Amino acid sequence: MTESRSALQLVEGVDLSDKVCVITGASSGLGRESARALAAAGARVILAARNADALTEAARWIQAEVPGGRTSTVHLDLTSLASVRSAAAEIREKTPVIHILMNNAGVMFTPFSRTRDGFEIQIGTNHFGHFELTRLLIPQLAAAAGARLVVLSSGGHVLGDVDFDDPNWERRDYDKFVAYGASKTANILHAKEADRRLCDLGIRAYAVHPGTVATSLARYMSRSDFSQLRQYAVTNSTARGESTDGYLDFITPEYGAATQVWASVSPDLNDQGGLYLEDCGISETVAPYARDPDHAAELWALSENLCAAS
Ligand SMILES: NC(=O)c1ccc[n+]([C@@H]2O[C@H](COP(=O)([O-])OP(=O)(O)OC[C@H]3O[C@@H](n4cnc5c(N)ncnc54)[C@H](OP(=O)(O)O)[C@@H]3O)[C@@H](O)[C@H]2O)c1
Repeated sequence: MTESRSALQLVEGVDLSDKVCVITGASSGLGRESARALAAAGARVILAARNADALTEAARWIQAEVPGGRTSTVHLDLTSLASVRSAAAEIREKTPVIHILMNNAGVMFTPFSRTRDGFEIQIGTNHFGHFELTRLLIPQLAAAAGARLVVLSSGGHVLGDVDFDDPNWERRDYDKFVAYGASKTANILHAKEADRRLCDLGIRAYAVHPGTVATSLARYMSRSDFSQLRQYAVTNSTARGESTDGYLDFITPEYGAATQVWASVSPDLNDQGGLYLEDCGISETVAPYARDPDHAAELWALSENLCAAS
């Protein structure tokens, strides 16, 4: 376990100078921190996100932190499959090979809305957009002959499973907590099935829970949302015979980004994949529905169908 090491400390002595990494949501929080660490190890890092000014600012910050760091930016709005497709085309123009694709961008507990293609906003942003991006970049990942796909999930996946009868909340009253849980469950299932289907192409996939990290992710949360989550944690741990006060212990992005960077570079993960990682190690704290291989295959088929139809 290397849980007390920062993302930057994790890449000390690692040479990524012949590697290309693509990171979504690299304009802030965990994505930006991961980009700094991978650039510090010498990688060429393509930063993808939707806000052009924030992306430019992130690239400038990395330049200042890592003199000589190699970054470029791509506009990507995961709430539009048209934008995802043009971002994938732009990435393909920049590089014929991708060694690390980090599907990091995400939103949490947003009020109900839909993406441009009609998906519920949380699963649409966190999963369907990334599913399409990944699908379009498979040839570039395969060209690396040893690529890693790192998918940001969350311990919050326990809040909900994907409802295959109503994945986009067309027939239920909206519950933003369950919807976030479903999107983060989808991230785990995506990594699992991607690993199964793509490992023969040398592509291994991992889902990551980064911990509870002080970033902008909680921007949609109210005080009562925090109380509700705290109550949920207390009820759950009591049911498991454990005790907690339910208060969240936040860590900084420097340390929060450690597990996704570890997933990207650690030799400990050579020749294995489809795993759920936390605290820079393999974790078994996965809800049963998120480890079910049939469920993973079903989500892949659903995602292919819904993206192809949009
Ligand atoms: N922080 C935590 O405690 C925690 C815990 C578990 C899991 N995670 C996961 O970690 C990942 C990173 O989150 P974070 O904590 O670093 O949050 P963050 O600081 O809010 O960063 C999220 C990033 O995603 C981008 N993004 C959001 N919607 C997008 C869209 N439609 N298209 C393209 N980019 C979009 C954001 O850009 P904008 O600024 O333009 O919105 C931002 O760059 C998420 O997947 C989250 O679920 C975080």
